[in-house]
Amino acid sequence: MLDAPHRLIPLTLDREGAALRTIWGAMSLDEAAALEPHAHAYLAPEAQALLARLTVPARRAELLCGQWLVHRVARAWLGDDTRARVGRGAFGQPLVQAEALDVPDVTLSHAGGWVVALAFPHGHPIGIDLERVDAAHVETLAPMLGAAECAPADHALGRAAALTQLWALKEAVSKATLCGLVVKADALALEAIGWDPTGFVDTRYATFRQYRGRAWVGSRCAFAIALPFRTEPPARFPWPELLG
Ligand SMILES: CC(C)(COP(=O)(O)OP(=O)(O)OC[C@H]1O[C@@H](n2cnc3c(N)ncnc32)[C@H](O)[C@@H]1OP(=O)(O)O)[C@@H](O)C(=O)NCCC(=O)NCCS
Repeated sequence: MLDAPHRLIPLTLDREGAALRTIWGAMSLDEAAALEPHAHAYLAPEAQALLARLTVPARRAELLCGQWLVHRVARAWLGDDTRARVGRGAFGQPLVQAEALDVPDVTLSHAGGWVVALAFPHGHPIGIDLERVDAAHVETLAPMLGAAECAPADHALGRAAALTQLWALKEAVSKATLCGLVVKADALALEAIGWDPTGFVDTRYATFRQYRGRAWVGSRCAFAIALPFRTEPPARFPWPELLG
């Protein structure tokens, strides 16, 4: 199968002294045209059926690149000789299908021309969100955040970046829990928000108390990860240049 340009990085997270294996991937959405002829090789039937229904080129590119990157992180997890395909779960979440004992779960997000995916152990839910920073979104984002979900007035990258960072934390937990944004907004409330001077923000979740979140932001994009609260998030986002 074609090998499109992409980046892969294994990251070991700490869970109360035990090593938790994750594999992260990133690629540009510009690779979609090259991947299209190979889609049948990495998409499970339900994902192929979805692709056939999609007519908007940008959305086709997201699906083609996103599922392919999921396939890459899963193959890196499983070993390159394991056959794997990427299907879809009941709520639209990506699923790895493979004949192997240790099949990882996966999460993915696309924004700003990039897709980021990661593979992690089944039974240890993780969700990620990559979100474009856009000053025009401030008016939309501000009312969707609660009164306690405050960003510092002197955030180095400005209000849009700070609000996007907080919003990405909500989307990330909505993916870890598989509920998406169909739940009532209150269900995704952040609490104990802590702004680290080195640039990331940590949070806990008022409803999903078993999770914690960490988010980074640049001038272009914010990235957030939500994961079980006893697991230490990575100290840094692997590709800060993607965030701008
Ligand atoms: C999940 C969601 C928050 C993602 O938001 P987004 O910022 O627009 O998009 P992102 O690029 O960050 O993530 C999209 C990816 O999340 C994954 N995803 C979709 N739904 C998901 C869910 N419920 N749980 C976990 N991951 C999900 C998919 O892989 C999707 O990409 P793909 O469709 O290309 O495979 C949003 O799409 C949502 O709320 N979906 C639920 C909608 C729903 O349940 N509809 C049911 C209608 S009855």
